[in-house]
Amino acid sequence: MRIVIGADHGGFELKEHVRDLLAAQGHEVTDVGAFTAESVDYPPIAERAARMVAAGEAERGILVCGSGNGVAIVANKVPGVRAVNAHDVDETLLARQHNAINVLTLGGRRITAAQAEPIVAAFLDTEAEGGRHERRVAQITAAEGR
Ligand code: RB5
Repeated sequence: MRIVIGADHGGFELKEHVRDLLAAQGHEVTDVGAFTAESVDYPPIAERAARMVAAGEAERGILVCGSGNGVAIVANKVPGVRAVNAHDVDETLLARQHNAINVLTLGGRRITAAQAEPIVAAFLDTEAEGGRHERRVAQITAAEGR
């Protein structure tokens, strides 16, 4: 799968771990930074990754900051992006099944790499359920245009 990944300094370490894991699994991963653990603003990085997802240049996006919140807020400003800050596998499954999220955000200071791994797997491996949820996702998309 084509995946774009990005982080600020608060998510740098976890981003590096997830990127290497996904690359080892054979995914085509585009890393939009940060490339060091030095302090950096997260909005431009999150926006760049989110726009790649919205444009179809990546099928999914993964963004990491300290809390997972800032990057989620930015990503959700981009039309076509549905991002959720997930803390466990169950909420990730629901976010894929019901909300068809295309961007996952993680808190590098909130969860460990070991906790992140099954969350990332659930994000990539779970299909959107369709049906009544598809109608609701279409309503989310419609709200973007109003
Ligand atoms: C950076 O200190 C921190 O504010 C950032 O990583 C993120 O948690 C913002 O939401």
